Amino acid sequence: MDSNEGGAPTGSQDAMPVLSSPIMQRFSFENGHHAQRMAAVCPSVSSKGFMTNFATPVYIALLAVMLVLPSPAADWISKVHEFPLIKQMNGSSNDYFTNSRESMMCFPHPESPRLSSYASDHLQLCSGNGHYEIASHQERTTPDAGACHCYGCFSGKHCEHLNSDCDLNIFHGDPTLFEEYWLTQPDAPTIIPSWQGLSYFAHRHNSYLFVDSFLEQTIRQLHGMIGNAVTEGRFLVLGVGSTQLYQAALYALTSPDSPTPTSVVSAIPHYSSFEGVTRFLDSRRFKWIGDAEKFRDSGTSEPYIELVTSPNNPCGSMNKAVVNGNGSVINDLAYYWPHYTPITAPADYPIMLWTLSKITGHAGTRLGWAIVEDEKIATKMAFFVQMNTLGVSQDAQARGVTLLRSITSSYNTRPERQPFFHLSQAVLEDRWARMSQALQNSSRFVLPEFEPASCSFFGRAFQPNPPFMWLKCKVDEDCAQLLKDHKIISRGGRAFGVSTQYVRVSMLDRRPLFDLLLSRLAALH
Ligand SMILES: Cc1ncc(COP(=O)(O)O)c(C=O)c1O
Repeated sequence: MDSNEGGAPTGSQDAMPVLSSPIMQRFSFENGHHAQRMAAVCPSVSSKGFMTNFATPVYIALLAVMLVLPSPAADWISKVHEFPLIKQMNGSSNDYFTNSRESMMCFPHPESPRLSSYASDHLQLCSGNGHYEIASHQERTTPDAGACHCYGCFSGKHCEHLNSDCDLNIFHGDPTLFEEYWLTQPDAPTIIPSWQGLSYFAHRHNSYLFVDSFLEQTIRQLHGMIGNAVTEGRFLVLGVGSTQLYQAALYALTSPDSPTPTSVVSAIPHYSSFEGVTRFLDSRRFKWIGDAEKFRDSGTSEPYIELVTSPNNPCGSMNKAVVNGNGSVINDLAYYWPHYTPITAPADYPIMLWTLSKITGHAGTRLGWAIVEDEKIATKMAFFVQMNTLGVSQDAQARGVTLLRSITSSYNTRPERQPFFHLSQAVLEDRWARMSQALQNSSRFVLPEFEPASCSFFGRAFQPNPPFMWLKCKVDEDCAQLLKDHKIISRGGRAFGVSTQYVRVSMLDRRPLFDLLLSRLAALH
């Protein structure tokens, strides 16, 4: 199976003690858009050292709460208690766009006092084309303490050489674009104390032992701020990425007793990895069928599960279910965030999958969540996660809390900071504009077109900037092969259930690699 974005699905675990099914908790959340006008977009902020910034009052408060929370496991298994309401955030109109677009595009720069020391190292020592890595923070004594690890296509002690003959690999949708933002957030890193996270169980759990209640609260708060999902009265299930939650949903929606496996369908072009995962599982409960429209047109009344990815991977369209029968639908909303697409209404579906990977770019953290309407389905999904990986890494959850809170607070308590979605949207918009301009008169490719829509979060209309550009070759040829001949390794149409005349190109790579992609595609006239 070579169709996964990031690797093979999680394997099964050795037998471990199994807890009783988790008790899921209804939760009220008052949606509220919140944004405050920033006084300046790229202000000067005095540069404190990494460790100084780490010891923020917020973090101390978190530690204090964690230390005083009593948590005998049995208490918590049986405890059903109302989660505290998150106060509606003060809604002020969102007028960041009174700032010029150029000033929004404020990238890390060696002179910027907002850069972490690591970021400065990357830029100064590795020419912005690699990571500077040292054995430990304490050893940061001389500039020679570490070494540059160059991004693909770059080499040299300072990553100063571009190997113009290299293969540029954009086969995966690796969201490294966001690295630039995080390099400007010196106090965002999560350092997890060695004494924390030893237990299987979350330190601050509520009804479900493996789930950090701060994380749950933070996730709901983020959706409320963006207005992209209904969370009130819904259940939250955490997974090792949304890839695991997709499997959990398949498990929860099917029965071992059904006479035939349930058909899994998705309109083409469909997200490639979920086909790969479904086939790999080779289950007697369900089987991959493919094109949902064909399935609908066959007039069959068989039970089915339809997977709807919206915005769609690979083509960016805002998909809806096409079968409209009595089956179940899994809505994968990995890209329904304002940096990729206008938020037109809160998504309101029975099973919605989300992932940290595509919000903040932290795909390596492997953290996803499902927002689920039906308690029984949510409980079964959580049971799958429990049986499959005995919960989700506490380190990943701690990181999730820090990262997501850093994003919400970029709109809240730290108005001097660049707010995350605004900066990321501007960067993606700029990439789409440059790529579209470079290819608009291409004799080789047909480009996708999108209509602008009004975004409730930004308070203005804009065109979607999807994570991938879905290209069609004008001549009926193998488009991925054409790109390969020009040293671009991309994912061809077959992986998405369509012809080889289509190819998917990632817009999410690091800046120097995106620029290289742009120049190679533009040269293909
Ligand atoms: C539409 C979609 N869903 C899910 C995923 C996988 O997410 P995760 O990293 O949380 O497993 C991806 C990754 O590319 C994706 O494009």
